[in-house]
Amino acid sequence: MVLHLPTPTRRTFLTSAAAFSASTLLPVSGLRSARAASLKEFRLKAAPGQARLAPEPYGETPVWSYNGTVPGPEIRVRRGDRLRIMVENGLDEETTVHWHGVRTPNAMDGVPHLTQAPIAPGETFAYEFDAVDAGTFWYHPHRNGAEQVGRGLYGPLIVEEAEPVRVDRELTWVLDDWRLTKAAAIDDDFGNRHDMAHNGRVGNTVTINGRLPEIIPVRAGERIRLRLINAANARIFGLDFADLDPIVIALDGQPVTGHAPAAGLVVLGPAMRCDLIVDMTGPPGSRITVADRFYRAREYRLVDLAYAETPLRDAAPDWSVELPANPLAEPDLSTAIRHEVAFNGGMMGQMIVAEMGGSMGEGASSGMMGGMSGGMMGNMMNMMHGQGIWFINGKAATGHVMDPLLTLPRDRTCVLAMTNATAWHHPIHLHGHSFRVLSRNGQPTARREWQDTVLMAPREKVEIAFVADNPGDWMFHCHILEHQASGMMGVIRVAEKEERT
Ligand code: C2O
Ligand code: CU
Repeated sequence: MVLHLPTPTRRTFLTSAAAFSASTLLPVSGLRSARAASLKEFRLKAAPGQARLAPEPYGETPVWSYNGTVPGPEIRVRRGDRLRIMVENGLDEETTVHWHGVRTPNAMDGVPHLTQAPIAPGETFAYEFDAVDAGTFWYHPHRNGAEQVGRGLYGPLIVEEAEPVRVDRELTWVLDDWRLTKAAAIDDDFGNRHDMAHNGRVGNTVTINGRLPEIIPVRAGERIRLRLINAANARIFGLDFADLDPIVIALDGQPVTGHAPAAGLVVLGPAMRCDLIVDMTGPPGSRITVADRFYRAREYRLVDLAYAETPLRDAAPDWSVELPANPLAEPDLSTAIRHEVAFNGGMMGQMIVAEMGGSMGEGASSGMMGGMSGGMMGNMMNMMHGQGIWFINGKAATGHVMDPLLTLPRDRTCVLAMTNATAWHHPIHLHGHSFRVLSRNGQPTARREWQDTVLMAPREKVEIAFVADNPGDWMFHCHILEHQASGMMGVIRVAEKEERT
């Protein structure tokens, strides 16, 4: 079901919007209850502009941005609202917008050629969909993503709960990582082979909300909901909040049982989000440093939180931190279809495949984690002498349109047993669905968290499960944008019921 929409004008859009509301393209669970909602309209214009990323004496940086700001404007609605977002392309090249993590109908997913014709320079496309889930999401282009996102095209999309958790203040930190020259210009070397084959375009300048952050004022006793969004092409963050004890309440927009971050670090691969409840428990007048410690021996101070002299209250409040659940269909593991997915390629890839292949015979696939079958391993070895740099089940994508990697019958539970047979981390993202992370290296996860992007460590095996309830062709790819651009991308098709698979 590949939809090629005509070059959109307001008129053709209205026709197609009417077609969606008609019936079959409203597949996502929970969507129907949202029908009566109010319509919220937004305009985004992607265009070249300037942003002050680095302080004086540096000049402003030429960027590409939405509505002239980096990040683009915060789109904020309430769960159940319907969004209509008119996107105008003021760039010299085609673009699209993808609403990362939002379970939209396929035709609104913003994937060039696969779900829509790209938006040509000077054209406008109207996206319209319901906010079926509350949570922290974001938007970004899906055409020439490594460069368009890397030059500043992204913004937060916040869907509020009908009854949000109680806090004193809410902050959104959109994290980004830029590769700037000495003149504070964006280095043009997008798509170089070294970045592609290693850990992507890791930069040299980290910003919060498009600024090199200095100090964020807080008050003793204050409770903050902090929404973190990693909009970087490639950098993985591991945030250390020093003496504070942040509680993770949502991952990738989806509520999770409140818990302390593992090993004290809030880890966010590219595209991942995390909602934290942070109680400001330090003394008035003091300061704490939030540091990023993900890459060993490359730690740095991200930002300082500075307490005002007067406290807000004497002790942390005891308000509930539990978020209401979103209407996600619960996977039924007893009837699940199981597929193996192997990622390989990149620098040192052959070595890892050889090493992991030896430790995983055919027999391994009947175990809890499964393994790669001998055939799959052979395929991978062969393909690695071909064109691409990265492969999913032996295939390297060259564009967004391709034969599906997997075809799933609609409404069935699917378990993907994924193996990262590479020497690098990969944040793996599935469009159109959220999935539960069932296990890592054979160990069941403690909270079976819902995610739309799961960070896989080198050699790691991860099992995920989801109900394939959103029909269409969905991208499945690494969100290190240089890996995606050099092959680590596939299509998962959710077939209509009538189709045989
Ligand atoms: Cu955030 Cu395929 O994208
Ligand atoms: Cu990757």
